[in-house]
Amino acid sequence: MEASIVQLKKILDPRGNLSIIEGEMDIPFTIQRAYWIYDVPGGETRGGHAYKTLHEFIVALSGSFDVVLNNGEQETRYHLNRSYYGLYVPQMYWRHMENFSTNSVALILANQEYDEGDYIRDFDKFKEVVNG
Ligand code: TYD
Repeated sequence: MEASIVQLKKILDPRGNLSIIEGEMDIPFTIQRAYWIYDVPGGETRGGHAYKTLHEFIVALSGSFDVVLNNGEQETRYHLNRSYYGLYVPQMYWRHMENFSTNSVALILANQEYDEGDYIRDFDKFKEVVNG
Protein backbone atom coordinates (compact mmCIF):
# COMPACT_ATOMS: atom_id res chain seq x y z
CA MET A 1 0.00 0.00 0.00
CA GLU A 2 0.96 3.61 -0.56
CA ALA A 3 1.11 6.34 2.04
CA SER A 4 -2.18 8.26 2.05
CA ILE A 5 -4.23 10.86 3.84
CA VAL A 6 -7.30 9.31 5.50
CA GLN A 7 -10.36 11.40 6.36
CA LEU A 8 -11.83 10.39 9.71
CA LYS A 9 -15.43 10.38 10.81
CA LYS A 10 -16.48 13.73 12.22
CA ILE A 11 -19.53 14.03 14.46
CA LEU A 12 -20.35 17.72 14.50
CA ASP A 13 -22.02 18.87 17.66
CA PRO A 14 -22.65 22.32 19.12
CA ARG A 15 -21.22 20.92 22.38
CA GLY A 16 -17.92 20.17 20.61
CA ASN A 17 -16.95 17.92 17.73
CA LEU A 18 -15.86 14.29 17.96
CA SER A 19 -13.75 12.14 15.65
CA ILE A 20 -13.06 8.42 15.75
CA ILE A 21 -10.39 5.92 14.72
CA GLU A 22 -11.26 2.23 14.85
CA GLY A 23 -8.55 -0.26 13.89
CA GLU A 24 -9.32 -2.24 10.71
CA MET A 25 -12.26 0.09 10.00
CA ASP A 26 -10.85 3.57 9.58
CA ILE A 27 -7.20 2.58 9.21
CA PRO A 28 -5.87 -0.61 7.60
CA PHE A 29 -4.47 -2.28 10.72
CA THR A 30 -5.24 -3.36 14.26
CA ILE A 31 -3.99 -0.80 16.78
CA GLN A 32 -1.36 -2.30 19.05
CA ARG A 33 0.24 0.85 20.43
CA ALA A 34 -0.42 4.57 20.73
CA TYR A 35 2.14 7.23 21.56
CA TRP A 36 2.20 10.99 21.21
CA ILE A 37 4.77 13.71 20.71
CA TYR A 38 4.27 17.04 22.46
CA ASP A 39 6.17 19.98 23.96
CA VAL A 40 8.37 20.08 20.85
CA PRO A 41 10.72 23.09 21.01
CA GLY A 42 10.61 25.42 18.00
CA GLY A 43 12.72 24.22 15.08
CA GLU A 44 13.10 20.63 16.33
CA THR A 45 12.85 17.54 14.11
CA ARG A 46 11.57 14.13 15.23
CA GLY A 47 11.54 10.69 13.75
CA GLY A 48 14.31 10.47 11.17
CA HIS A 49 13.99 6.74 10.51
CA ALA A 50 12.09 3.99 8.71
CA TYR A 51 10.45 0.82 9.99
CA LYS A 52 11.10 -2.53 8.35
CA THR A 53 7.61 -3.89 9.03
CA LEU A 54 5.64 -1.47 11.21
CA HIS A 55 2.72 0.57 9.85
CA GLU A 56 1.51 3.70 11.53
CA PHE A 57 -1.09 6.43 11.39
CA ILE A 58 -0.27 10.01 12.39
CA VAL A 59 -2.82 12.64 13.44
CA ALA A 60 -2.27 16.27 14.44
CA LEU A 61 -4.59 16.18 17.46
CA SER A 62 -3.71 19.79 18.13
CA GLY A 63 -1.78 22.40 16.17
CA SER A 64 0.16 21.49 13.06
CA PHE A 65 3.38 19.94 11.75
CA ASP A 66 4.81 18.45 8.57
CA VAL A 67 5.49 14.77 7.97
CA VAL A 68 8.08 14.26 5.25
CA LEU A 69 8.11 10.80 3.63
CA ASN A 70 10.74 9.35 1.33
CA ASN A 71 10.17 6.00 -0.37
CA GLY A 72 13.69 5.84 -1.75
CA GLU A 73 12.67 7.52 -4.99
CA GLN A 74 10.77 10.62 -4.09
CA GLU A 75 10.06 12.82 -1.13
CA THR A 76 6.55 14.02 -0.23
CA ARG A 77 5.64 16.54 2.43
CA TYR A 78 2.27 16.31 4.20
CA HIS A 79 1.09 19.22 6.30
CA LEU A 80 -1.17 17.92 9.07
CA ASN A 81 -3.26 20.59 10.78
CA ARG A 82 -6.67 19.10 11.61
CA SER A 83 -7.68 16.39 14.07
CA TYR A 84 -10.18 14.81 11.62
CA TYR A 85 -7.68 13.42 9.15
CA GLY A 86 -4.37 11.67 9.38
CA LEU A 87 -1.54 10.14 7.41
CA TYR A 88 -1.21 6.39 6.92
CA VAL A 89 2.45 5.41 6.64
CA PRO A 90 3.20 1.83 5.55
CA GLN A 91 6.50 0.11 6.30
CA MET A 92 9.70 1.12 4.54
CA TYR A 93 9.15 4.85 4.23
CA TRP A 94 11.86 7.07 5.64
CA ARG A 95 10.02 9.71 7.62
CA HIS A 96 10.68 12.72 9.72
CA MET A 97 8.45 15.35 11.32
CA GLU A 98 9.20 19.06 11.51
CA ASN A 99 7.68 22.56 11.66
CA PHE A 100 5.76 21.77 14.85
CA SER A 101 3.54 24.67 15.88
CA THR A 102 3.48 25.79 19.52
CA ASN A 103 1.44 23.36 21.65
CA SER A 104 1.02 20.85 18.81
CA VAL A 105 0.34 17.22 19.66
CA ALA A 106 1.11 14.37 17.24
CA LEU A 107 -0.78 11.14 17.95
CA ILE A 108 0.79 8.04 16.41
CA LEU A 109 -1.02 4.72 16.22
CA ALA A 110 1.05 1.68 15.34
CA ASN A 111 0.29 -1.92 14.45
CA GLN A 112 3.12 -3.31 16.58
CA GLU A 113 4.67 -2.97 19.98
CA TYR A 114 7.88 -0.97 20.29
CA ASP A 115 10.81 -2.91 18.83
CA GLU A 116 14.11 -1.13 18.28
CA GLY A 117 15.08 -3.99 15.94
CA ASP A 118 12.40 -2.87 13.47
CA TYR A 119 13.97 0.59 13.02
CA ILE A 120 16.33 1.63 10.25
CA ARG A 121 18.03 4.74 11.59
CA ASP A 122 20.62 5.25 8.87
CA PHE A 123 19.38 6.86 5.63
CA ASP A 124 22.11 5.29 3.47
CA LYS A 125 21.21 1.85 4.83
CA PHE A 126 17.53 2.58 4.11
CA LYS A 127 18.37 3.44 0.48
CA GLU A 128 20.41 0.24 0.16
CA VAL A 129 17.53 -1.88 1.49
CA VAL A 130 14.88 -0.15 -0.70
CA ASN A 131 16.93 -0.31 -3.85
CA GLY A 132 17.79 -3.96 -3.22
P1 TYD B 1 11.97 7.36 18.54
O1 TYD B 1 11.03 6.40 17.89
O2 TYD B 1 13.38 7.40 18.03
O3 TYD B 1 11.32 8.83 18.45
P2 TYD B 1 11.05 9.76 17.17
O4 TYD B 1 10.76 8.84 16.05
O5 TYD B 1 9.91 10.60 17.53
O6 TYD B 1 12.26 10.60 16.97
O7 TYD B 1 11.94 7.12 20.09
C1 TYD B 1 12.58 7.97 21.01
C2 TYD B 1 12.92 7.19 22.28
O8 TYD B 1 11.72 6.72 22.91
C3 TYD B 1 13.77 5.97 21.99
O9 TYD B 1 14.78 5.91 23.00
C4 TYD B 1 12.85 4.79 22.16
C5 TYD B 1 11.75 5.30 23.08
N1 TYD B 1 10.43 4.74 22.72
C6 TYD B 1 9.88 3.73 23.48
O10 TYD B 1 10.47 3.27 24.48
N2 TYD B 1 8.65 3.23 23.15
C7 TYD B 1 7.96 3.69 22.07
O11 TYD B 1 6.83 3.22 21.79
C8 TYD B 1 8.55 4.73 21.26
C9 TYD B 1 7.85 5.28 20.05
C10 TYD B 1 9.78 5.23 21.63
